[in-house]
Amino acid sequence: MARSTSRGRTGRHLAPDEAQTRPQEVPTGNGQQSAKPVPQQSVSLEKGQPLDDDLPLAREAQRAVRVLNPSGSVTMPRPTRRRVFAVANQKGGVGKTTSTVNLAVALALHGNRVMVIDLDPQGNASTGLGVEHGAGTPSVYEALVEGMSLDEIATPVDGIPSLYCVPATIDLAGAEVELVNVVAREGRLEKSIATFSGELDYIFIDCPPSLGLLTVNALVAAEEVLIPIQCEYYALEGLGQLLRNIELIKAHLNARLRVSTILLTMYDKRTKLADQVEQEVRGHFSEIVLDAVVPRSVRVSEAPGYGQSIMTYDPGSRGAASYFEAAEEIALRGAKLSRRGKNQKGGN
Ligand SMILES: Nc1ncnc2c1ncn2[C@@H]1O[C@H](COP(=O)(O)OP(=O)(O)OP(=O)(O)O)[C@@H](O)[C@H]1O
Ligand SMILES: [Mg+2]
Repeated sequence: MARSTSRGRTGRHLAPDEAQTRPQEVPTGNGQQSAKPVPQQSVSLEKGQPLDDDLPLAREAQRAVRVLNPSGSVTMPRPTRRRVFAVANQKGGVGKTTSTVNLAVALALHGNRVMVIDLDPQGNASTGLGVEHGAGTPSVYEALVEGMSLDEIATPVDGIPSLYCVPATIDLAGAEVELVNVVAREGRLEKSIATFSGELDYIFIDCPPSLGLLTVNALVAAEEVLIPIQCEYYALEGLGQLLRNIELIKAHLNARLRVSTILLTMYDKRTKLADQVEQEVRGHFSEIVLDAVVPRSVRVSEAPGYGQSIMTYDPGSRGAASYFEAAEEIALRGAKLSRRGKNQKGGN
């Protein structure tokens, strides 16, 4: 059982990756899909709600849930109100996109209505979800620069019910310059999100590796920041600058913003360094660091090449189990916080 091989709440790390199951080859794209409004009701595979079994990706998704949560005992409760995460770290290649894609898929597979906004001109989150993002595809650029509604842009992700992606095309590379003279340029993404008419439980915004205007837009639109930290040399380099920027945005543009979640990625238990980075990060950031740690795993890095998350590409792998646990923690921590908030209000 995948979950028993993972690190778990008791704090043991995963071994380097060895796949337990073999994925099937599947198409890498989902072609030009038109945007559909998000269903008003939760669609949960666990609850056996309908899914188009004919799609190979849908079969992969069903298999993923069976493998990752065989008893169906794990729940990822829907939040009482929408949670918007900016997944940010200006350091490149730390796992922002991989974490965005896999957490979004894990939450969607367990009954949450989720949207991924690809805010990186590289378009890696769109690729990882198998969503069309060639030149001319309506994308986050049209939303930011031209004010197009997200209803016209959000694309359902093949095989994963209740998961939507706002893709990024190469046009986004010019957006930072084009937005310079636009009024309230820092609030464009927040405004775009407000144009979406469907109901959502989570929005994950995949930021580019910079602290430019695109990342600022994500930090203005979000309430929570999720920072992936790679368990490698220079892991904490530049983090101070990111935290200072977050404080500035909090002070001037978005008072609700907070760093709620840190996720350790690419942990290689064979190295002492990974352990040192973990100790340092946990020592410094304490409870906002998720217990789940993502191992360095070849399977995780292969999945985007198939337009899939690790959750569907190889649900039996430790990479999938770790993202599954991380998603569960995010959901449960959110539920705990909202209970605490309600109790405090009730007590006043
Ligand atoms: N747990 C992992 N094990 C092995 N490889 C990984 C893991 N997570 C991510 N990778 C790989 O590392 C590379 C960087 O990951 P990713 O693209 O998620 O980082 P990023 O922070 O989004 O990068 P960028 O700053 O360029 O946007 C990718 O090739 C990805 O497939
Ligand atoms: Mg990325």
